[in-house]
Amino acid sequence: MRFNNFLIVIYFIYLTLAHILQAQNSYQGYVNAHNAIRAHVGVGPITWNYTVAAYAQNYADQRKGDCDLDHSMGPYGENLGEGYGNLNGVDAVKMWVSEKPNYDYASNACVGDECSHYTQVVWRKSTQLGYGRMKCQNGWWFVICSYYPQRILKANVLIEA
Ligand SMILES: *[C@@H]1O[C@H](CO)[C@@H](O)[C@H](O)[C@H]1NC(C)=O
Repeated sequence: MRFNNFLIVIYFIYLTLAHILQAQNSYQGYVNAHNAIRAHVGVGPITWNYTVAAYAQNYADQRKGDCDLDHSMGPYGENLGEGYGNLNGVDAVKMWVSEKPNYDYASNACVGDECSHYTQVVWRKSTQLGYGRMKCQNGWWFVICSYYPQRILKANVLIEA
């Protein structure tokens, strides 16, 4: 009897550890994807923040029913993405970074098309992030990345917060 309880406790600890390790694995790849592109343009690394991640996941949960790409208007910088199939966090980062050709360094503005998701990924003053992901009822994946501190955008021109 005592032996059985001991086994159950061990098993429980094992499950908890596995869960924590799995969570770390899934966000580390995501943080790394950001840091690779940031390093490429000479911007310092970004780190994971659990408070920010909880906010992001909470917002993703709210989009389960409609999957709308509406911003949360919260206290963080925010990139949204969605896709069919199995869109994961790293896929979403690739999607945002694909806007890079539209960023004009000389004028510090987007030219031709959208670039603000890319510039949020490499935003120097945003040093922490968290993301959330939710499979919507229509079968699409909704992905949100929240960035702290938030940046300030004026019209199309990027202003340092
Ligand atoms: C995480 O982000 C929150 C802002 O939402 C901030 O107050 C907190 O200091 C951050 N945590 C760490 C460890 O920097």
